[in-house]
Amino acid sequence: MIVTLTAHPALDRSIALEAALRPGDVQPGTPGREDAGGKGINVARAIKAAGHEALAVLPLASEDPYAAILAATGTCAYVVPIEGHARVNLTLTDPTGETTKINMPGAVLSPAEAAQMVQTVAAACDGAEWLVLAGSLPPGVEDDFYVDVIDAVRERWGAHAPRIAVDTSGPALAAVVERGHPDLIKPNEDELAELAAVTLETTADSSDLIHRVVELARSFVPDRVGSALVTLGGDGAVLIDADGAWAGTPPPITLVSTVGAGDSSLAGFVLGDVDGLDAPGRLRRAIQYGAAAASLPGSQAPTPADLPPGHVDIARINVVAWCPDPPEQHSSYYRP
Ligand SMILES: Nc1ncnc2c1ncn2[C@@H]1O[C@H](COP(=O)(O)OP(=O)(O)OP(=O)(O)O)[C@@H](O)[C@H]1O
Ligand SMILES: [Mg+2]
Repeated sequence: MIVTLTAHPALDRSIALEAALRPGDVQPGTPGREDAGGKGINVARAIKAAGHEALAVLPLASEDPYAAILAATGTCAYVVPIEGHARVNLTLTDPTGETTKINMPGAVLSPAEAAQMVQTVAAACDGAEWLVLAGSLPPGVEDDFYVDVIDAVRERWGAHAPRIAVDTSGPALAAVVERGHPDLIKPNEDELAELAAVTLETTADSSDLIHRVVELARSFVPDRVGSALVTLGGDGAVLIDADGAWAGTPPPITLVSTVGAGDSSLAGFVLGDVDGLDAPGRLRRAIQYGAAAASLPGSQAPTPADLPPGHVDIARINVVAWCPDPPEQHSSYYRP
């Protein structure tokens, strides 16, 4: 079983406008989709679609409209009752495809609700193979909330604790890398650059980018983080672990929407792991799942039947030397 935590769920509501947005005017709109959004929910849906058991943990008020939309997806969930409602992310699209996004703030978690979330995740991990902590943190919790969750899970289950993957950004990711010792993190290139406090140059040669990514990730893998799956959008992904580094590019697809592609990559990696694949196999599965998500509308979770048929070559990256004591500019955040 795979448990996911979505600490900051969002109701994604889209509205199609009949004409371009006119601020200050009253305009007709056609209701589009309403999705129970959140990275942990997306991961749980992809895991379930592949025939594995998934359990999503999230904070939710019983009368929140989000609850009915989530229930309709058939996702198994442990709900921590809270006072406030899930935030609403509104997307307005006009006939030319121009989109305007309005993101509302989420419910503020009280200290008691946050503590209840930590305990609920720990309880949910009974027999779990992986725990996936995904997405931003809600207002009201400290930046090291995920570290508290990790500590509680490991304290409760000891040697039987699940492996822990974290997909977040900014101070929440920095805290996990500093003190959480996760088994896996899944930054995209911007999140990795922010973590390492560097700028990753866009170069015409993607092998330069891959080598730079490996070099940056080596400053915390495997000392502080078991492995890093760094996704690079259309350029594919890189996996760095204690045994080496590998990179691959997506197969040809018809691009529809990259929203949630990273969540699907993480689901693919975890599915590859529970299916017993080796590191290159897990990376291949991650890239296939990301590419499948990019070829589906919205944040729709891919099923195994959605995986693109093209071959995904995985190359071992040998060029970057192991660097136990990286120069200052490579590891500003996590230098011991
Ligand atoms: N344009 C694309 N063409 C093919 N595959 C893509 C494209 N964009 C993304 N992917 C696939 O999806 C994976 C994840 O993409 P990306 O790096 O954009 O994730 P992300 O930024 O974490 O996304 P999000 O957080 O919105 O889910 C990539 O490794 C790749 O396999
Ligand atoms: Mg992402």
